Amino acid sequence: MDMDPSEIEALVQQTAHEFANRVIAPQASDLDATERFPSDVLRGLSEIGLMSINVPHEYGGADAGAVAFALAVEQIARACASCAVMMSVTNMVGETIARFGTDGQKSRHLPKLASGEHVLGSFALSEPDAGSDPAGLRTMATRDGGDWILDGAKQWITGGGHAGVLLVWARTAPTAAGAKGLSCFLVEGSTPGLKVGRAEDKMGIRASNTVALQFDACRVSGDALLGDLNGGFRIAMAALDGGRIGIAAQALGIAGAALDESIAWAKTRSAFGVPIGEHQAIGGKISDMRTQIDAARLLMARAAFLKRAGQPYTREASMAKLFASEAAIRVCNEAVQIHGGYGYMREFAAERHLRDARVTTIYEGTSEIQRSVIARTLLL
Ligand code: CAA
Repeated sequence: MDMDPSEIEALVQQTAHEFANRVIAPQASDLDATERFPSDVLRGLSEIGLMSINVPHEYGGADAGAVAFALAVEQIARACASCAVMMSVTNMVGETIARFGTDGQKSRHLPKLASGEHVLGSFALSEPDAGSDPAGLRTMATRDGGDWILDGAKQWITGGGHAGVLLVWARTAPTAAGAKGLSCFLVEGSTPGLKVGRAEDKMGIRASNTVALQFDACRVSGDALLGDLNGGFRIAMAALDGGRIGIAAQALGIAGAALDESIAWAKTRSAFGVPIGEHQAIGGKISDMRTQIDAARLLMARAAFLKRAGQPYTREASMAKLFASEAAIRVCNEAVQIHGGYGYMREFAAERHLRDARVTTIYEGTSEIQRSVIARTLLL
């Protein structure tokens, strides 16, 4: 497979790299420490087209494709994993509306997502009692004339407190089994009856807004239904296939930053009369870190290029997400070890990278779910 980025993809990557270094990196540590919501960063990402990478030009998007998306998320994650996940999820929401929406739905939401008028898009699938198994979700949507009334609770929703539009999954056929009775709705963040809970106090990605949502008699019009009635589960799965490339890219970005800082440290910190990088033990760690990052990069690229080519990529996206996320945790753990006592201190970024990396094996499908997706394609 040809896996060379096109001119446009390389330009998107370069644009993201420059913005990450100039605007995000200088404030990343402060964002983590204060949990400040990075409005300025998100506005800037919209301005340079990175919040709607896979949205068609006619709706204001960059229309640059799956490879450009992965390369851009990686660059942003190198500077700030919190910004990267909000960017990744917003892109996933825009792409899903572009793919499944009517002309009216696309015209209503996509230009706002692309311009930043919708600060974020959110993906409201998980519930307090339905994380890995969304087919068991309990939020209900009931008909009332031409409208739908949503009732229920969502949990761990990235960007939910700042979302202009949310994809919300609800049960529309109470008697249909599991996945078959779910539909997806486009809900604007300001809709009466949608209540945003307090921001979660998290181990990592602390500047990313993560909230619980409550829907109490939340009324949306009939044209809020995205895609087919009772066809919502497939929309969620299709969206997550692409989203998992984004999380692989996020993990890769975090790990890449941890490696670069470890190399710089290994060249400058001395012990026993020489830079620590000259000790075999440290050189071996650096070698293993780079090898795992390169392997993750190849898996991520394969999934993204398959998607770009319009070929099936569900398994490959799960493999990329599984490997990159687990590799990121190992790499970041070694980065802390290489930095020694300093690595455990907040003034160095190594400990932030480890905390940020930890969630990548959990959201958008745990490692256990990725293994299950992969196994099904091999065993069934
Ligand atoms: N694309 C399209 N359709 C798909 C699909 C895919 N990748 N995978 C499954 N489907 C379809 C199936 O073909 C099937 O359709 P039919 O009924 O027409 O045959 C239907 O969906 C049901 O499929 P399954 O029987 O395989 O469903 P399941 O209940 O066994 O679940 C699962 C499969 C893969 C385990 C799924 O439940 C899953 O991915 N779980 C993890 C959920 C997840 O990732 N949550 C993340 C929350 S979002 C988030 O984290 C975002 C954030 O904010 C950071």
